[in-house]
Amino acid sequence: MLETAIVSGLLYQAALIAGSVLVLLELRLLLVTGRFTTSITHLLSSPFQETPVDEQPILAWVEDQRATIDFSFFDIPRPPLQKRLELRARANRRLHLAFGIANSLTTALPETHKSFMKEASRVINAGDNMRWVELYDLAELHLGRDAESAENLLHLADCTQRLCLTIVLFDNFKVDPRDTPPEVSSFIASEINKQWLRSKGDEMTQESSDLNQALRGLGLRGEDGCPMAPQRVLGLIMPQYETLWRVVLLTFVTAYHRQARPENVERVRTVPQCLGNTEQEAEAVKLAKEGLRLYPSNKRIYRALMTSVCLPFSADVEACHRHERIWGPDALEFRPERFDRLSKLQVRAYFPYSLGQHRCPAYAGFGNRMITMLVVAMSRVFSEKDWMVWFDDDSLDKCSRKTLPTGRDDMGRWLLRRRTGAGR
Ligand code: HEM
Repeated sequence: MLETAIVSGLLYQAALIAGSVLVLLELRLLLVTGRFTTSITHLLSSPFQETPVDEQPILAWVEDQRATIDFSFFDIPRPPLQKRLELRARANRRLHLAFGIANSLTTALPETHKSFMKEASRVINAGDNMRWVELYDLAELHLGRDAESAENLLHLADCTQRLCLTIVLFDNFKVDPRDTPPEVSSFIASEINKQWLRSKGDEMTQESSDLNQALRGLGLRGEDGCPMAPQRVLGLIMPQYETLWRVVLLTFVTAYHRQARPENVERVRTVPQCLGNTEQEAEAVKLAKEGLRLYPSNKRIYRALMTSVCLPFSADVEACHRHERIWGPDALEFRPERFDRLSKLQVRAYFPYSLGQHRCPAYAGFGNRMITMLVVAMSRVFSEKDWMVWFDDDSLDKCSRKTLPTGRDDMGRWLLRRRTGAGR
């Protein structure tokens, strides 16, 4: 028995060493053939190491991050679509396994990508600016009910997740929250969150049958009248819901509680009527632009290296958006007015919607409108006058200048607390 265990242990070790040697050889080959040109700076931006930006000319470092995102770093100067999709799909494999989704972010097939892009642009370009008024009214109604049903406390993350999910489900599939019990969206939101966390811990996480069943229960049908598979529903809502809830929550807390200024209320006075009209909404959407600067939905954008094992590889969006040498000494302060005029370096260093050939289709206005609309609805229902944010963490509760943590789990304990004397 013991001998067998030792032998299999040794074999396992040998396999690991052989695997590592193979990967090193592959990396070396890429270097020698010049296919792996700026390897060192890019490996520094892998999730395993902090990027020592201060040691590098800042613009060169920003350009390195951009090159990772737009694939120009990889072996061929302009990789074809199939190759680009492969590089991204490898990095997003765990999403495919955990949710069963096959969309542009997880597929390596050009056909699947193209048909998903069509579906996404149908969602993004639907309706006129009355759409924003309708969505805003629904958001206020939903939040008003939450405020009404809460005694004096509300879980902020739970409340924001349900809000974002409710709006996305209505906007995409006309799931009306007035006809759907609130527990349903609550369950779906929390199951997506759990599934996401599971997939981070375990690369091989399987789909959640509870989540799939809850989605089937919504009774959604495709254009052909057949029931929509849960994986298809998730494929469409995940790129929206997951990019929205954290930035909405953090922007709301920052702009209307921790760093509240009358200017932030005045800026959005005409929301929702102004949304959808590029000129009229210009001031209001700076709220979303600054929110996405400080709290980009994708803190890093991942690609994978083409070796026999998947090597994660990423561009540091958050660092580009927050660096003092790019944004000045007040880089960590919430100041939407900085978008009145950006320097050339700031323009290069700002890419919340990615860039190049795979820039998000929501970049041209839809994403900023959605964030602005949701944050403003929250700020009006949970105004500073009637509610306070309680972090249950002295370092945040006692110092409003401390930068908010942004991890998925960091917000689990944050509460909205009704001020004494505020009416119900
Ligand atoms: C706050 C809103 C949003 C943000 C911040 C955001 C961010 C991003 C980012 C960073 C990427 C690029 C990922 C990469 O390069 O690998 C991306 C891609 C994508 N997003 Fe979004 N997104 C948002 C909303 C949406 C919405 C509403 C939709 C549509 C239904 C959408 C659909 C997509 C699609 C289809 C891609 C893949 C594009 C391609 O490969 O060419 N996103 N998004």
